[in-house]
Amino acid sequence: MYQLYPYFTNDGSVGLYSESDNDIYHSTYGALTEAYEKFILPAEPEYYISKYNEIKILDICYGIGYNSKSFLNFYLKNFLINKNIATIHTNKNISSICNDKIYTNNNLQDRLPICNDEVYTNNNSCINSAYSKSEKQNFKIYIKAIDTDKILAFLSPFVICNKKNIPRNYKLPFTNEKISKMLNKPTKNKIEFLDEINVIFFEKIAEKYPEIFKNEDIKEILKSKKYSHFFEPFICRLFEMKQSQIYKYLPLGYLSAFLHNIHYHHISNRYKKAVNSPIFNDFVLDLKIEDARKELMHDSNRYNLIFLDAFTPAKCPALWSIDFFKVLFEHLEENGKILTYSNSAAVRNAFLNAGFYVGKIYNESSNKYMGTIATKNKNLIKHKLSDYDLGLLKTKAGIYYRDENLTADNDKIIALHKIEVENSNLISSSRYIKTHNKLTEDL
Ligand SMILES: C[S@@+](CC[C@H](N)C(=O)[O-])C[C@H]1O[C@@H](n2cnc3c(N)ncnc32)[C@H](O)[C@@H]1O
Repeated sequence: MYQLYPYFTNDGSVGLYSESDNDIYHSTYGALTEAYEKFILPAEPEYYISKYNEIKILDICYGIGYNSKSFLNFYLKNFLINKNIATIHTNKNISSICNDKIYTNNNLQDRLPICNDEVYTNNNSCINSAYSKSEKQNFKIYIKAIDTDKILAFLSPFVICNKKNIPRNYKLPFTNEKISKMLNKPTKNKIEFLDEINVIFFEKIAEKYPEIFKNEDIKEILKSKKYSHFFEPFICRLFEMKQSQIYKYLPLGYLSAFLHNIHYHHISNRYKKAVNSPIFNDFVLDLKIEDARKELMHDSNRYNLIFLDAFTPAKCPALWSIDFFKVLFEHLEENGKILTYSNSAAVRNAFLNAGFYVGKIYNESSNKYMGTIATKNKNLIKHKLSDYDLGLLKTKAGIYYRDENLTADNDKIIALHKIEVENSNLISSSRYIKTHNKLTEDL
């Protein structure tokens, strides 16, 4: 059976550990928070949303989808829902057009229809949805999400992103001292994650990959008690319901569940909220199960935002090589941005040599730099590399990975890199850092 190592990170979102790579997929301080702080907020999506009618995003290493889901969450909260809640509460003369009718704020709840002619009387979000349609008309979101791991990608809509009450002294469900030490430090500013996001992602994935319902690994994982509390019961029920629909003749045992599910399907506000969301039909999740290097060979898109969330360069250099970055250069729109969590000198040097302008990502809440941004437009760099950072690029630490044909495996790329470092005359990074520290002390 496919082995998963899930646990609750400090913000209540599920994080994963990879035993084979001895690496974490997500930060223990919060998988969702990390996606926001390292990818979504520094990308400044509001710039693209207000300027364009469509945004194209490339999510390299989709995993369980935090970066893509966070983008949609950000968009719904900031451009559809929140904006409209403010309108409803503050505007005395509300007039918004939906289905060509004008609504005033008299008895708003009783009179608002949703855009598909259904009437909602008891659900604020539906009211917001109706409003939002007129706020940002037909904005399109296209996300190409790539990962080699089909099982993780299929499980992405199931994982809980917003567990409210993690028990005190929460214990890791497997053994790993490093992760254990980092737990039980609740994240201060928890991000609100909208319930409908996972439903939207589930619908999109199930539509594109109906094989999900027959996948033995998925069925087994969803059935296993070991994992059940990491998955959203609602999405599991939706899965069961759709699964039973695809069998032509229902076994007797399924019948009552099926009937129950039809009912469930029709009354569930959460389901309606998701599929009636103004963005539902304008959102494309183009999920590809493939090596990102191969996938991009046949892709002619230019992206506004590229999220690069591969395992660390020392373990997965295939997605951090200068040759891969040259491919990314061709896929980045002139005012686009590549965001990554890596601060590595080799990564920054590879970006520079592939033709990008390179800067740092600054995180306000921790008052630290925590990643790298690469662009084709130098005006988009807010936090430049310092003289110290640039000096580091000229040491052995700045020697980048190479993968000329974009087909080498990680071990081969690591071996070639090691030889290049050993044969290099550049100074070591430790000597550079010592000299630098001494110079600063002397000043
Ligand atoms: C750090 S995790 C990504 C976490 C993810 N962004 C999320 O929100 O869950 C790294 C991912 O890279 C994927 N991966 C590794 N090599 C890859 C490759 N050559 N092409 C595409 N994906 C790859 C792994 O399957 C893994 O899911």
